Formats: sequence, C-alpha cells, structure tokens
Amino acid sequence: MKTIFSGIQPSGTLTIGNYLGALQQFVQLQEEENCYFCIVDEHAITVPQDRLKLRNNIRSLAALYLASGIDPEKSTLFIQSEVPAHTQLSWMMQSISYIGELERMTQFKDKSEGKEAVSAGLLTYPPLMAADILLYNTDLVPVGEDQKQHLELTRNLAQRFNNKFNDIFTVPDVSIPKVGARIMSLQEPTKKMSKSDENEKSFISMLDEPKKIEKKIKSAVTDSEGIVKFDKENKPGISNLLTIYSSCTGESIASLEEKYKGKGYGEFKQGTADAVLQVLTPIQDRYQELIESETLDEILDQGAEKASITANRTLAKAKKAMGLGRVKKKK
Ligand code: TYM
Repeated sequence: MKTIFSGIQPSGTLTIGNYLGALQQFVQLQEEENCYFCIVDEHAITVPQDRLKLRNNIRSLAALYLASGIDPEKSTLFIQSEVPAHTQLSWMMQSISYIGELERMTQFKDKSEGKEAVSAGLLTYPPLMAADILLYNTDLVPVGEDQKQHLELTRNLAQRFNNKFNDIFTVPDVSIPKVGARIMSLQEPTKKMSKSDENEKSFISMLDEPKKIEKKIKSAVTDSEGIVKFDKENKPGISNLLTIYSSCTGESIASLEEKYKGKGYGEFKQGTADAVLQVLTPIQDRYQELIESETLDEILDQGAEKASITANRTLAKAKKAMGLGRVKKKK
C-alpha cells in the first residue's frame, strides 16, 4: 500500500480546475492507498487574507473535500495549522534550501512580479510544502501540472537532507492526470483557471449555482471557425471545453469530436454545461448538509490527531538527524 499526500489552499471556493486536476484523483486513490489530505491554511497566509473569510474558507474546503467523496474512514483529512510539526519541519527544510532555487520558482515569480511588498513566506512556501509531504513518508503526490516544479524541489530537498544528515525521508513521486491537469480560464484560455482570478467569469466555482455555470460556459471565449476539434495552439478555448467535458464524463476527446461533428458551438457548450452540472450538482447537495454539521468538526479533530502521530515521529527523526535539542544525561 502506498502513502499519498496532497493539499489544497483555502484561498477561495475551489474551481472545477481544482476538482478535475486534483480532487477527482484523490477520491479514486483512497480506495487502494493510505491517504492524507490537507487543508493548507498556512500556505494561504503567504498572501494577505481577511481573517473571517479565511476561517470560512477553511471550513468550506473541509466540507467540499467530503462532499466530493473523501471518506474519513479511508483517508485522513486535517487542517495544516492544527498539526504543528508542519511548520517545525518547514524551518529545517528552509535551512537547507538556497535562496536562488526558491527565487527561480515560477509561482514565486508570478505572485511577486510588480508587487512592492512581497512576504518572505511567499519565497519560503516550497520548503513548507516539502515539509507537508515528507512528514508522512509519502510515496506519491497527486497534483495538477502547476505544482510540478514544487514537487521537483521537494524531491531535491529530500535527497539533500538524506545525503547530508541521515537517510530518513522517502523521495516522493508526482502523479499528474493525463486529461485535466491544467484547466484554463474561460475568458483567457491561454491562462490557468484560478480561484483568485479577479474576473469571475473566467472560472467555474464548485459552488456556483447551475444557472451561473451555464451562463459562464456559454460566454466562454472560443473562435470563429465553428468546428469542435482539439487543437491547443489554434483553438485554446474549444480545447479547454473539450478537456472539461471529457474529464467530467470520462468520454474520450476523440469521441466528443465525433459526437459534435457538424454541430455548432451552442450545442457543444450546452453539452459541456450539462456534463459539469452532472458532476457538481450532487456535490453541492452534499455540501449543504455537511457545512453546518458537528460531524465535520469531529472528522477534522480525529484527522489532526491521527496525522500528528506520524508527523511527530518523522519530526523527531529529523531533529535527531540534524542534531537539534539534547540527549538527556542518565542519572
Ligand atoms: P492550490 O490550492 O493552488 O490547488 C490545489 C490543487 O488543484 C490543482 N489545480 C489545478 N488543476 C488543474 N487545472 C487548474 N486550473 C488548477 N488549478 C489548481 C493544483 O495543481 C493542486 O493540485 N501549493 C499547493 C498546495 C499544497 C500542496 C502541498 C499540494 C501545499 N502543500 C503538498 C501537494 C502536496 C497549491 O497551492 O495548490
């Protein structure tokens, strides 16, 4: 049995991109593997957050994980800041990271570009992510494509630590879905769909009302050719909708191209909206039941307790390997 770890930031309601790139894989993996899924609130504060909104987003993300099919009997679901070992190991990981390699991270460059005040946390975000993963002896990390570079760095840091101190960390592999690893913005289909985009029409939130979802898909930017065909270079809008459609229904892109041969974009967009709604409607219904329930708190308490046991064990090994703390004298 493999150990799986992945995390999602509570920085706004999840998009269909987060679902298709990450969550959907999580639900499948928990059937066979030992899974840890985390609400990474300490990552979220590397950019300014409104405290009340953050609190709501944390709870809402926990409910969305469960509503999407994460089963607390099979997976450990917990909040990062409730397991202190994450920030503790993160400090050790920062101490073996080089500023140069952190400054080369695309996400850091994108998020800091043109900003006057950039938090130090934005730069040291990847060592925290490495700590998240390494604490659990993780074999595999399911993520969307945008996290690939952070995973490469995690592997490097694990190997660096093992070589320098003691061979204690498992070097994790990354798992990226074949279809749906990078869902694009509906308004600028050459840009990644993001929950923090200022233009609300550019993303489908997992909690958007059905009418809104239909409207957003109908106003998605396409092209004037009128042919439903996958061509990322020349038809990024249509290719993105085909990817969303295919990831929601499991139908191959080739068979969707065939299905919509000779048909207009209007019909294709309606089909895409129906496919998205078929996935999201049952999730939204379950979400409403969960969000106010006490069960949610019980699940998160148990998750933090369970995660802490493994995390503290690894943390103790890492401290010993680095020479932190002391060995008590025997009387
Ligand atoms: P975050 O919160 O930005 O995104 C959560 C997951 O969703 C994927 N994703 C996408 N997939 C397809 N298309 C998109 N448009 C899209 N947007 C986001 C992301 O790749 C991710 O898998 N740093 C991470 C959180 C994190 C983490 C970890 C992940 C912290 N520690 C340890 C794995 C392991 C992040 O910001 O993801």
